[in-house]
Amino acid sequence: MLLEVRDLHVFYDDFHVLHGVSLDVGEGELVGIVGANGHGKSTLLKAICGLTPVRSGTVRYRRERIDNIAAPDLVARGLVYVPEVRNLFNDMTVRENLLLGAYLQRDPNRTREILEQVFDLYPRLKERANQQAGTLSGGEAQMLALGRGMMSDARFMAIDEPSLGLAPALTESMLDTIAQINRSGVTVLIVEQSLSLIRDHVHRLYEIEEGKLFKLEPDTSEGAQAAPAGKDG
Ligand SMILES: Nc1ncnc2c1ncn2[C@@H]1O[C@H](COP(=O)(O)OP(=O)(O)OP(=O)(O)O)[C@@H](O)[C@H]1O
Ligand SMILES: [Mg+2]
Repeated sequence: MLLEVRDLHVFYDDFHVLHGVSLDVGEGELVGIVGANGHGKSTLLKAICGLTPVRSGTVRYRRERIDNIAAPDLVARGLVYVPEVRNLFNDMTVRENLLLGAYLQRDPNRTREILEQVFDLYPRLKERANQQAGTLSGGEAQMLALGRGMMSDARFMAIDEPSLGLAPALTESMLDTIAQINRSGVTVLIVEQSLSLIRDHVHRLYEIEEGKLFKLEPDTSEGAQAAPAGKDG
């Protein structure tokens, strides 16, 4: 397994948010977690990515313990949290926001190369490279959040509610590009509120309820769609 989470407990002061979460994500997988408001989705992704402290339990990435290792060190290892869009730097341009994502990259040629990849994936961002991030539409801002994550040369992306504030059509294309990023070799863990939204876009699903995680079995009932595009390609 690329990522192994075992019996994870996270608190905010006395408030117990994650109650013994265990989770596996294999290399190349696109795994989804669904859950309602306040049930601990963001907390789980942040705990994995070193952005909120782990009280007990373990997180392993490539077999190494990473629980309570700080986020910048994890970014350097290719593990990146893609936050909800409200965390962009609104006064900076699209290009500046993207380059911030590459702040740990030592090789400027590699940075240019990934920037081209992001612009190929999202020509809208290229057109708007010099526009202030705060003036982007909701969909464009979401593209920028994802693009900034890609800029760090991520091998594993934990993506927090990419559909937030997007119209259904834009949500679909957002999820399609996430699948495309996944097919390019990036392992993805994605959280969303609605099962129907991501069911057809992921390889496997979990549900989080009051800080406890459950495996969701594939829906084989009539009318249900099979698993999404394979991991090849
Ligand atoms: N920094 C914090 N300090 C104290 N409590 C927090 C903090 N962050 C989150 N919480 C609380 O922890 C619980 C889980 O929050 P979390 O953000 O993980 O939920 P979520 O599933 O991502 O919700 P949403 O769908 O609304 O984004 C909530 O009750 C929230 O109020
Ligand atoms: Mg959240």
